Amino acid sequence: MMFSDKVALVTGAGGGIGSAAAKLFASKGAKVVVADFNAEAGEAVVSEIRNDGGESSFFRVDVTDELNVNEMISFCVERYGGLHIAHNNAGILHEAKRFHELDLGTWDRVMNVNARALVLCLRAELVHMLAAGGGAIVNTASGAGIAAAPMLSAYVTSKHAVVGMTKSAALEYARDGIRVNAVAPGTVETPMTANMTAQQRDALNELMPLGRMATPDEVAQVVAFLASDEASYVNGAVYTIDGGSSASA
Ligand SMILES: NC(=O)c1ccc[n+]([C@@H]2O[C@H](COP(=O)([O-])OP(=O)(O)OC[C@H]3O[C@@H](n4cnc5c(N)ncnc54)[C@H](O)[C@@H]3O)[C@@H](O)[C@H]2O)c1
Repeated sequence: MMFSDKVALVTGAGGGIGSAAAKLFASKGAKVVVADFNAEAGEAVVSEIRNDGGESSFFRVDVTDELNVNEMISFCVERYGGLHIAHNNAGILHEAKRFHELDLGTWDRVMNVNARALVLCLRAELVHMLAAGGGAIVNTASGAGIAAAPMLSAYVTSKHAVVGMTKSAALEYARDGIRVNAVAPGTVETPMTANMTAQQRDALNELMPLGRMATPDEVAQVVAFLASDEASYVNGAVYTIDGGSSASA
């Protein structure tokens, strides 16, 4: 699986899963645009990639801002001459609260970053890929995009929207040479899941069939496969990466 001559964009690439994906794409020869709201985290990922001999640039983006998202795609084209792979991965979680207690501001924020922003990213990417004659898109959904997780109603709803958008786009652009897939990780060891107590972590690990959470790289490996030519007949798929948790549902 090599990505020589490919340009890959990863949003939320300053974070756990996104940085692992960006580094993996770069290690396989892609020129990688690391896009994130957090400039310090994103620049650090670019430095790591460059230190390892890879090609990468940072673009500071707020994926909820349409103009900014369009500029991000233009940046890919201007810097590296195209955009072949897009990993739409930026996302946020919210505090655990019952449905009726979760405030509307939180609903709006989560839906804005996880769902509406994906509309903006997909549209901009699809416009470019249609003109270019093809591409591969991988969205980061979640196990919470397939089944509900208690106390996370806005997150669950937003990730179900990611799955819906993935399937809709997959159908509509298949004959344009654009494949659109999603990954649905279970619980992954990233900054998003870092603020657990040792006791909560132990309890969670105990529930996992593999006795542990996923590493970001274990998610990135599936992202890279879906983005690669090896996955040429994989379209509209939502790949569960949960160590078997959902097998017992
Ligand atoms: N960690 C998990 O257990 C888990 C499980 C399933 C799915 N996911 C999903 O994986 C994706 C990555 O999560 P992670 O665990 O690596 O979390 P993370 O918090 O480490 O990374 C998320 C990144 O997104 C960036 N971001 C947030 N809002 C943004 C915005 N408006 N514009 C641009 N960038 C923005 C953050 O700065 C951060 O670097 C998310 O979509 C998340 O919902 C995570």
